[in-house]
Amino acid sequence: MGVIVGGAVACAGETIVFVGMAEECRRQVALDPSGRRIDARGGVVLPGFVDAHTHLPFGGWRDDEFEKRLAGATYQEIAAAGGGILSTVRATRALGAEALAALVRIRLDAMLAAGTTTVEAKSGYGLSHESEIAILKCLASVQDHPVEVRPTFLGAHVVAPEYRDGRRAQYVSLVAEKILPDVAARGLARFCDVFIDEGAFTVQEARLILDAARGLGMGVRVHAEQLTRTGATRLAINLGAFSVDHLERLDAGDVAALATAWSNARAMGREGPADRLPAPGAKSAKSASKGRGSNEEGTASALRAPVAVVLPGASYFLRASVHPPVRELIAAGVPVAVATDFNPGTSPCLAMPPILSLACLLFGMTPDEAIVAATRHGALALGIEDRVGTIEAGKQADLAIWDVPGRRHLAYRVGPVPCAVVIKRGRIVALEGRRVPAPGAHATIRGGAMLVDLTTRQLLDKLASDAPTPGGGSASALAGAQAAALVEMVAALTLGNEKYAASRSALEPIRTKAATYRAELAGLVDRDAEAYDGVVAAMRLPKQTDEEKAARKAARQRALQYAAEIPLKTAEISAAVSDLAAAAAPHANPSAGSDLLVAAMLAQAALGGAAANVRINLGGLANEEFAARANERLQAWSHRAAENLSEIGKKLSA
Ligand code: NIG
Ligand code: FE
Repeated sequence: MGVIVGGAVACAGETIVFVGMAEECRRQVALDPSGRRIDARGGVVLPGFVDAHTHLPFGGWRDDEFEKRLAGATYQEIAAAGGGILSTVRATRALGAEALAALVRIRLDAMLAAGTTTVEAKSGYGLSHESEIAILKCLASVQDHPVEVRPTFLGAHVVAPEYRDGRRAQYVSLVAEKILPDVAARGLARFCDVFIDEGAFTVQEARLILDAARGLGMGVRVHAEQLTRTGATRLAINLGAFSVDHLERLDAGDVAALATAWSNARAMGREGPADRLPAPGAKSAKSASKGRGSNEEGTASALRAPVAVVLPGASYFLRASVHPPVRELIAAGVPVAVATDFNPGTSPCLAMPPILSLACLLFGMTPDEAIVAATRHGALALGIEDRVGTIEAGKQADLAIWDVPGRRHLAYRVGPVPCAVVIKRGRIVALEGRRVPAPGAHATIRGGAMLVDLTTRQLLDKLASDAPTPGGGSASALAGAQAAALVEMVAALTLGNEKYAASRSALEPIRTKAATYRAELAGLVDRDAEAYDGVVAAMRLPKQTDEEKAARKAARQRALQYAAEIPLKTAEISAAVSDLAAAAAPHANPSAGSDLLVAAMLAQAALGGAAANVRINLGGLANEEFAARANERLQAWSHRAAENLSEIGKKLSA
């Protein structure tokens, strides 16, 4: 876990271009005028969750079985009586393609709103050639959803009902020889999974299917050692699987075997973080000749060691008494991922935060381990660790902003954790726990839309209200932003006119700078309100004991200084806008002269208003040096702004 306090992330298009301290970001990164700034307001920014194990496409729920289990029946007894997975198979087969896709979309929306940006999704509730293909096609049809879906073929979930008359070998052949090649040929799944357990498939049967999958260039993953220990983990290691999942009955030898697999894989890997494997070169001639998959992420590679994917939702829901040896796995250097296992029978939970909570409470993980397991190691389990799962320059901009005072809250809170913003591939896709329609989304944090995103009428209403913010500081920043916009307008009007071709080289940089200042001043509208809110919050701190008094005083000083720094910034940029207006004057199309005059007046008003706010807050500030320096600068700027205005006025009347 790499933690940056007071950090910032910058994105360009779909990609993260900077992560580090906010000040460094301000130095290194210029926000595009059309770009947007989102203030996390002391919240927590994490990579979007990568949920590496779900049974997402299914019809029907199994709340009736839940009640039966509460009355004493076991999961296995219910399955043996024709319920369990088979009841979901009946309900799924009964759904049309559209109905299933609609269900999947609703579930993806809910996942997104809870901070998941990438999800693995297994078929396995069809169990016939036709229905398994239909389910995977449904997953292909939702690829336009902001949550990226990585499909897995789980035709070998359990033996299909039609083959339970002593023909299980035929079902295994059907899966390995007919359905699997069809799935691969249509490019419908990147992975093949088998449920290896009592009541499902044996290790021998699984080997047949998974060997076939590898030959077709697919990646391998298995449900291993959940209800009984079968040796599935050893098979998975030998096959170079991407993951082994569940692991409740893993024994010490299995843990050691996984540890060895990981140290071997790391030794063969190139440089890089210990748990990030480079895509290995060794591919079978067969898979390379298939054309698809061989060069893609998430496909078969002989050198991978399996990530241990643990599923605390299923343990909780089945009231399991035996848990996977997570502490031993971590101690042995095996990367552990946590996932929801979302399905109607053993884990009807599609949000990651409750799963993090259970990973800590049931499996003994720390909150930091759980967060890494839900992001970086989830990506590793899906073979997309080069692209998602961490916040690093060069990676895809998949981020979630959590409205909580610290990252531990992701695992600590019981029930929903407030998710302010979800960003997928650089775009805002969910706000305040709701998916938003694609374009023009408004960022809202702590209950209100950002001021600059309100309609003008709404903003004016807010200014007029009896709330202390937004007030004069925000209004000043807004005046400055309008001034900058008018300078841009005058430059654009002139640049568009052939008559003034000679002014091009002077006006182009003016226009660009004005655009940058406009963006910064627009941001200051909100920051000024936040800054004053900080002062109010400090004043409300308790002041009973001496200790409390001292803490309150220090907090008040910090808040006041910040509340002076923000309008100081507004003043500085407004002065620069005034300079730009003066610089534009000799070149500007005279028909836009009055606009330029308004720009200069607004810039002066912005500067004067901001200066008044600086001085008010300086009054309560003990830092005299800061105050003196601020006053000096303010004086120089107002002098310049006044000169600029009178100069432009003279030009206009001339
Ligand atoms: O991961 N273990 C097998 N499959 C699911 C359960 C499926 C079901 O009961 O519908 C699981 O827990
Ligand atoms: Fe599962």
